[in-house]
Formats: sequence, structure tokens, C-alpha cells
Amino acid sequence: MSSIPTRRDAIGTLAAAAFGALAPGRAFGRAWEPRPSGDLPYGAAVRWSALDHDDAYRAALLERCRIIVPEGEMKWADLRPARDVFQFENADHIADFARRNGLALRGHTLAWYGAMPEWTNAIATAREAERELVAHIETVVSRYRDVVSSWDVVNEPVPERPASIGDLRPSVWTRCLGDSYIATAFRAAAAVDPTATLVLNEYDVEFVGGRFTSRRDSLRHILRKLLDQGVPVHAVGLQGHLFAERAIDRDGLQAFLSEVKSWGLKVLITELDVVDKTLPTMEAERDRLAALKVDDFLDAVFSAIRPEAVITWGVSDRYTWVPIYFTRNDGRPNRPLPFDADMKPKPMMAVIDRYLRRDV
Ligand code: XIL
Repeated sequence: MSSIPTRRDAIGTLAAAAFGALAPGRAFGRAWEPRPSGDLPYGAAVRWSALDHDDAYRAALLERCRIIVPEGEMKWADLRPARDVFQFENADHIADFARRNGLALRGHTLAWYGAMPEWTNAIATAREAERELVAHIETVVSRYRDVVSSWDVVNEPVPERPASIGDLRPSVWTRCLGDSYIATAFRAAAAVDPTATLVLNEYDVEFVGGRFTSRRDSLRHILRKLLDQGVPVHAVGLQGHLFAERAIDRDGLQAFLSEVKSWGLKVLITELDVVDKTLPTMEAERDRLAALKVDDFLDAVFSAIRPEAVITWGVSDRYTWVPIYFTRNDGRPNRPLPFDADMKPKPMMAVIDRYLRRDV
């Protein structure tokens, strides 16, 4: 018998861990030690370039995470340098790391407007687009079927500012297929792996303000339509890239989540972090305010539904996407994540832990 745990083993162990017992004969390490009943899994996005070289980072991940998700290694730009080429090396490394360490793996992402290789701009017809999209999904989902338990099938379908309710974010997929690309992607993923949790992942749906309300309405509309068409969508991913200066729309988020819950959908928090561009320079104060923002958000989410998992977009400030777009004016490094750049837990981690343990 192989010593590599399969996804089904991992799911079994996850369930066993939730009920306070480890599956016999498997040494999954600390992330899989028995947990109090009701304890939710915490996870983080990972970068292979760091995981491969940085012992402290790897240790922090293994100590804390029960789920990992590749930050970029499963995006089209990484996997598909050319039309006829699949390049799996880095994604494979992450999948092996998950298998070896008994971690659940989430896949990110199968259909997105972003991180698309140049060659996809030449896709011209509906037939060609459908063929490329479905073939990609079949190849990628089947390759990681044993280890990926959940896919962000469609990422960010809602436009930055929806002009109307059916409005979608432009991409090669909408250009050739209109809104049918969403159903096509979910159906293709489900056909290959009927047991995976298939997620529609979106951002900027949790704040107070007209733009965020209309984004929430658009997301709701997409989900309702998919369900009406019998499309296998199982969960909504709330990315949760929070901004320190934006208030959480507690009532709006609660109403949205209660509704999608009543439709039988699950919810995951998939990319939590706090963009700290406008927070004070003093680190202790900055960390305190970031933790409070996370508390506000989780409180609103948990008041409507218990999410399946809380996943942050990275574990440590040492490796974060935030400075790509949101560098601070004082020149100080951003501090968006639960561990600081020295791998010390910050108040944000304590807040997340509190919700993971909460029975609601
Ligand atoms: C980001 C990665 O973190 C960066 O490393 C990359 O350069 C750009 O993409 N929402 C998403 C993620 O769904 O895929 C994005 O990840 C962050 C925003």
C-alpha cells in the first residue's frame, strides 16, 4: 500500500480530526493532530519558490495549516506557456508537498480573466474557446484528482463596477462564449471529479457602498442562474481581501450569505488578508487594527453561516502579493497576514483561531 495519503484518505482524516481521532496508521504531523470537535480548518496560499527554500516558512505552514492552495502555480499563465504545452512542474511540487504532509489541497483557478497567457488572445470562435476551456479543465482536474479536494472553478466573474445585473468581467471566455463559460467550466470540472467541492470565487463583496452592493447583487444573480440551470456549483468563495479603510457591510453580507445558504451552497473564506496601506506606521497599532478588521469580517460571516474553512492569501508577511499593488507611502513593508516576516504570530492569528474554535 502506498504511504502517500490520497485525497479520500485526507478527507477521512479531516473528518476524523474534527471528531477528535486520527485515522490509524497515518503520521500526518501537527496540522493533522486531533482537534476539538467543531474546529474548522485553517489554510494558506503557498509559493513553491519559497516552500522549496525557506525552512522557517515551511515550518510555519506545517505547524498551522490543514489546507494549502497554490498562489499562482495552477493558473493558466503558469500551466500553459503555449497552446500545446502543459507545464506542471511547480504545481506538481506543491501537490506532492500536500500529499507528503497530509494536507488538503485547493486548486486555483480554472477560468479567470487574469494570468492568461498571450496565446489565448488568438482564440476566436465559440467552438474553439469551449474546446480549449474544457480540454484544460479535463487535463488539470484529472491530474490532481487524488489530492485536490476543492477547486476555484471560476474566479472573479463580476466586473469591477457592474453596469447591470447580468454584466460580466470581460475575458477571452466572455468574448467567445458569453456567460455560458461559467456553466461550461463547472460542468467540465464535475465531469472529471464529481466529488470535488466546486467553488465560485469573488472579491469586494463585503464592504459598505454602492459598488460593493452591486457586486454582491451580481454574484447572487450568477449563482441563482447556475443553480436554476442545474449546474454543479457547491460553494461561494469569499476572497476577503479586506481594506483597512473600508467598513464591513455586516447587514448586507449577512443577508447575502443567509440567502446563498438557504439555496444549499457552502461558503469558504479563500484569500483573507488586510491591505494596510492606510494604517499607521507603528507596527503594534497597525497589527491591532488589521486584526480588528478581520474580526469585523469574520463576525459578519459567522453570524450568517459557518464557513467550511478560513484560508489566508499567504501565511507570513515575508511572502505577500499586497506590495505589488498597495505599497505604503511611509516605505514600510506591508503587514497583511497572520504571521509577521519573522514568522511570529500576530494578533490576526489569534482572532482567526477564535473563530475556528467557535461553535456556531
Ligand atoms: C495574486 C498572487 O498572489 C500574485 O503573486 C500574482 O502575481 C497575482 O495574483 N485574487 C486572486 C489571486 O484570486 O489569484 C490573486 O493572486 C490575488 C487576488
